[in-house]
Amino acid sequence: MGTAPLRVGIAGLGTVGAGVLKVLATQAELLARRCGRPLVVTAVSARDRGRDRGVDLSSVRWHDNAVDLAADDQVDVVVELIGGSDGIAARTVETALANAKHVVTANKALLAHHGTALAHQAEAQGLTLAFEAAVAGGIPVIKGLREGLAANQVREVHGILNGTCNYILTEMRTTGRDFAEVLAEAQAKGYAEADPSFDIDGVDAAHKLAILTSVAFGTRVDFANVHVEGIRHISALDIDYAGQLGYRIKLLGIARRTPNGIEQRVNPCMVPVGSLIAATDGVFNAVVADGDFADKVALVGRGAGAGPTASAVVADLVDIAIGRRTPTFGVPAGQLLPLTPAPLSARRGRYYVRLMVVDRPGVIADVAAALRDQSVSMESFLQRGRAPGEAVPVVLTTHDTEEVAMLRALTVIGGLGAVQEPPRMIRIEDY
Ligand SMILES: NC(=O)c1ccc[n+]([C@@H]2O[C@H](COP(=O)([O-])OP(=O)(O)OC[C@H]3O[C@@H](n4cnc5c(N)ncnc54)[C@H](OP(=O)(O)O)[C@@H]3O)[C@@H](O)[C@H]2O)c1
Repeated sequence: MGTAPLRVGIAGLGTVGAGVLKVLATQAELLARRCGRPLVVTAVSARDRGRDRGVDLSSVRWHDNAVDLAADDQVDVVVELIGGSDGIAARTVETALANAKHVVTANKALLAHHGTALAHQAEAQGLTLAFEAAVAGGIPVIKGLREGLAANQVREVHGILNGTCNYILTEMRTTGRDFAEVLAEAQAKGYAEADPSFDIDGVDAAHKLAILTSVAFGTRVDFANVHVEGIRHISALDIDYAGQLGYRIKLLGIARRTPNGIEQRVNPCMVPVGSLIAATDGVFNAVVADGDFADKVALVGRGAGAGPTASAVVADLVDIAIGRRTPTFGVPAGQLLPLTPAPLSARRGRYYVRLMVVDRPGVIADVAAALRDQSVSMESFLQRGRAPGEAVPVVLTTHDTEEVAMLRALTVIGGLGAVQEPPRMIRIEDY
């Protein structure tokens, strides 16, 4: 590796792109010392050339089209910070690799959909495709799993992978307000997008989980087999009951090795109040990996924002500048295994259920009978307050049971005349 500057082209100068420009400018000396060569931005691309990006770009080549930047012969590494699983971002990355340039990206949607194919394309030419910023922003979770835990069979990786959802759930708990109200406030403050569906419906977390699964288990990225549930249906009532039962509700991404295959799911879960995951509040993310020799390892930090995300992007640039290389997903792309998805119906675990039932004699006996008929055993049962003839919340938790039995029981319970709304079920994870 020579001492010539590493020439960096940045496609996308929004929150993350402008953050990367700032880190490269502020830390230029430190980075040059760490890499033994300077990191120099030679080209950039965005839509609006007139917009102030906070850094003087007058001596840097400007491309109106990011694909042209990806083919620029003054660029050694293309940093893709535009976003989106297809379209311009995908064309930019493919063009960069086709022109023998390394790629750094923060684009989880792109990797969730095309990660395995892009890893093949990069590795076939001895190029790096790096994506630390794509999962949990500033937290070095990819390096932690791929390099730090390389000696382990990973049993499970789980975590809080979406700061917007965690912020909303935290606000709901601390203020007692309902989902819609807190979401509107989060949008007004800029914590949630105008179209928040990728965040609150769990899709963004599912993109990240699909990437984590591949790194953790050496399997091809398999986004299609992630079970995804968001947080729209979580009510202030459930959050309150969770607290009374000693739990917090968190939107978790979970990838778990089971006897049936690998389970991948994003879903609201109840976790014990004393756990690290429960204590991770607001916009923070947390990732816990469970290795057969290392045991549980946790990383907590900021999963988004200009500074943290740019920190991860620039760390990938340092690897490239030094020539530090590792297979994209920890195993050479050609040796990644197809993922055998474990059916979620085979999950064994505990459950929280909330019903709205008309308060009249015999209802609870019917609910108990439906559970007994599926061999589901109740652990606790809560009915606070009485309002004869009106719908009141009834909450129960179960001992370990199979999800398929739970679902059968809930179908029967949901069909009882006295049960007013579809039963709400939340999985309990005893971390
Ligand atoms: N924001 C975060 O905290 C965060 C955290 C982790 C990962 N990420 C990922 O990082 C990526 C970028 O996110 P961001 O928040 O920085 O997005 P952003 O603020 O919306 O910025 C997107 C940038 O792409 C540029 N752009 C859009 N279409 C373009 C095109 N056709 N050609 C060239 N440039 C184009 C925009 O140009 P103009 O500025 O001229 O409009 C803008 O500079 C996404 O993949 C996102 O998922 C973001």
